Amino acid sequence: MREEIIRRTEAFMRAELMKLADYKDNNRRMAEYRIEHSIRVAHIAADIARKEGFDEERAFVAGLLHDIGYSIDYETKEDYRNHGRYGARIARPFLRELGYSKAQVEEMCYGIAIHVDEKADFAGENTPLALTIGDADNIDRFDAFRAYEALQDAEYRDLPLEEQRSFVAERTERLKQYRGFALGTETATAMWRDKLDFQLNFLERLKNQIEHAVIAEIPDGEGK
Ligand SMILES: [Fe+2]
Ligand SMILES: [Fe+2]
Repeated sequence: MREEIIRRTEAFMRAELMKLADYKDNNRRMAEYRIEHSIRVAHIAADIARKEGFDEERAFVAGLLHDIGYSIDYETKEDYRNHGRYGARIARPFLRELGYSKAQVEEMCYGIAIHVDEKADFAGENTPLALTIGDADNIDRFDAFRAYEALQDAEYRDLPLEEQRSFVAERTERLKQYRGFALGTETATAMWRDKLDFQLNFLERLKNQIEHAVIAEIPDGEGK
């Protein structure tokens, strides 16, 4: 990977994504989180590319730019669903400036465009590199922070025990389904299953804690 290309892309991504700190209901930390997530996605995408034998630098650069569409101040949820497609429009001229060929740029932009809902508003192919952008995004989204965030969003700490029990049971069922999904490459699928196994193991431990927080039956026997 060429240092200058990576640094220029990082600077461009940071400048674009810091804009969202000023939008309604946002704050600086939200913009920083989006930047940190983008860098993690870039690392994951490059890791997949290296193991699968395709262009690591372009996977890294497209990963850095995958959420660049967040730099727009969206009004509605529907607009927000378009952040991949809008992101591709923002990334395209910048990627051409970096010196990539038209075909290389189109492949990266296609990956950025489809990363939210698998749909682009221009023609392209589901190449391993294009599919890796959304895969890396999903792999990051189901890492350790997610285990915390899911509990935080559910206000888990303050739920009565029975509701904690159903939260854990429902989430376990959902994540078991997710675990069965196949991603764009074998490497990504293996990484995805590893993240889901971690989440499921964590939920299993929570379930055990809930079960042991109740004295269900007292063994009646000769022991004291
Ligand atoms: Fe995204
Ligand atoms: Fe993302």
